[in-house]
Amino acid sequence: MQAASIKMNNIFTDTLNGKKCSRPPVWLMRQAGRILPRYMKMREKYSFEQLFTTPELAAEVTLLPVEDLGVDAAILFSDILTVPKAMGLDMDWTQKGPVFNSPLVFESDPIKKLDVKTESLSYVYQAARKVKQMSDIPLIGFCGGPLTVLCYMLEGVSSNQTFPLSKTFFYQQTSKAKQLIDLLTEVTIEYAEKQSECGIDAFQLFESNAGIVPLEMYEKLFLPAVTRICKAVRAKGIPFIFFGKGISGGVNIVKPETCDFYSADWQMPLSVVRKNLDKEIGLQGNFDPWLLFAPKDVIEKAVINMKPFFKENPKWIANLGHGVLANTPLENVKFLISRIKETIWE
Ligand code: CP3
Repeated sequence: MQAASIKMNNIFTDTLNGKKCSRPPVWLMRQAGRILPRYMKMREKYSFEQLFTTPELAAEVTLLPVEDLGVDAAILFSDILTVPKAMGLDMDWTQKGPVFNSPLVFESDPIKKLDVKTESLSYVYQAARKVKQMSDIPLIGFCGGPLTVLCYMLEGVSSNQTFPLSKTFFYQQTSKAKQLIDLLTEVTIEYAEKQSECGIDAFQLFESNAGIVPLEMYEKLFLPAVTRICKAVRAKGIPFIFFGKGISGGVNIVKPETCDFYSADWQMPLSVVRKNLDKEIGLQGNFDPWLLFAPKDVIEKAVINMKPFFKENPKWIANLGHGVLANTPLENVKFLISRIKETIWE
């Protein structure tokens, strides 16, 4: 296997541990997917679900971006919707993306419709262990955030990602929402703990929908669940990264007990996020995914612009402010990564 020959570097874990490095480490959300020609080849033969539920294939896909893009960390090839499936939701990953056949919002007693079988998630742990056997590259485990996953459970896929039925539910049926959040949090904690026992080097929580509710609602209803998940992961000795898309402006709600690193979305400059974020917390992000459609000199300039930030903030992991978009030119993705790795930062 080619991956075994890739030289281990500790820049990702060193940065997570607060050690100053000569450059920021880099990986990209959604780095393993449709932008990689070798992934597309595999997709001709296997469905997305087959790829992530078969540990050997999931491990192979996890390592593709390390080999083909030169990133400093791998993220387990899986999906945040593994958890709703294990909780008994009737859903499938189709050619067009995930489809929920009976979203909970239409049920009079949603919790009754659930049938939690966490043992069905063992393929995820097998895949993580396999990656660690195959490569020394730091591995990131992950789960979805409580709000994001609950929105999918309640409503399925929302056409413009605003989840109007879920928002209505949070206001009209707050106590039922709380029950669902509690159950989802219990399952997520077990999921995060079990991944943490597989040798992963970091754990990231993807709260991609954080910005669809008012900040006060996020802080009251959902953030305590994130803090509980963080506590469980930390107890296993694993650093915790929190991606809260849409809350950059209100990032002062994120406290040291919420996460070790905060992954910022692309909306605000990192220097502004930094001013509002607790000093103990490191930062990850936040190049705009659309930047990768720009000419190379624009990409290069965006990297160079980060030099003063890195000088003052060595606790920075370079990444995008959201996942790599489909159809992103592969050569621009490679260019961004090589510029981050080859720029003289000091
Ligand atoms: O970052 C990575 O490369 C790791 C793997 C990963 C996937 N999904 C693989 C995937 C991660 C971390 C996710 C997270 C995820 N999944 C989120 C939160 C992050 C975000 O981008 O906002 C959400 C909302 C999902 C749910 C999901 N999965 C949707 C809505 C879709 C369809 C739309 C799309 O992006 O394709 C998926 C499918 C999915 N998840 C693919 C991949 C590689 C595409 C599979 C394919 O068709 O080959």
